[in-house]
Amino acid sequence: MASNYDNSAWFYDSLAGLFYGSALTDAQVYLLQFIKPGSTILIAGGGTGWILEELARIHPSGLRITYVEISAKMMALSAKRSVGNNNISYINKPVEEADLAPGFDVIITPFLFDNFREETLKTVFNRLHGLIKPSGLWLNTDFQLTGKWWQNVLLKTMFVFFKIVCGIETSVLPDIEKQFSQCGYDTIAEKNFYGDFISSKAHKKS
Ligand SMILES: C[S@@+](CC[C@H](N)C(=O)[O-])C[C@H]1O[C@@H](n2cnc3c(N)ncnc32)[C@H](O)[C@@H]1O
Repeated sequence: MASNYDNSAWFYDSLAGLFYGSALTDAQVYLLQFIKPGSTILIAGGGTGWILEELARIHPSGLRITYVEISAKMMALSAKRSVGNNNISYINKPVEEADLAPGFDVIITPFLFDNFREETLKTVFNRLHGLIKPSGLWLNTDFQLTGKWWQNVLLKTMFVFFKIVCGIETSVLPDIEKQFSQCGYDTIAEKNFYGDFISSKAHKKS
């Protein structure tokens, strides 16, 4: 069953800020420095779309962005964002079902894969893998477990909450990094946030 973040759209950013301060946004903004001017970018699961404004701050023009978001309410909020003179096309569909032409310079998946069971992760990952150019950059931010007890507590709490409110399908974190290594990506930059609970990595396709 596909998750539906419609129910959480109106409070998602405030709740994220309450629990994590600026860590969730800092982790994603850290990766934006690796984007070159004039890039074609696919953003999958951008939520309320604040990342579009951050991108426009760094690149006020010249980007061609395809913004794919499954939740109609998240999409409505995203469409109100100031995007400078960048060219944005909005697609309100699951990214794995969207009709997209391959050849993206950059793919951004911010806290997308933690919603999925292992099988869905593989399906979505393989679809995106086919859309990114050779030598393209895949900027992924998500939770990771590094052995601290409180990370498990926070993760379980989030899974229970988002299962009830948004119907997410999983209750365990799938193995995201395995997908990148199996498909031959190199990690060219990485940084951890919030006591190593959040990992941001720039992966380069070979
Ligand atoms: C955990 S939220 C993260 C939102 C945003 N990236 C952020 O960090 O604020 C996950 C987002 O992915 C979207 N999503 C989930 N499955 C999706 C899919 N298959 N295709 C596109 N978007 C999806 C949800 O609607 C939600 O907005």
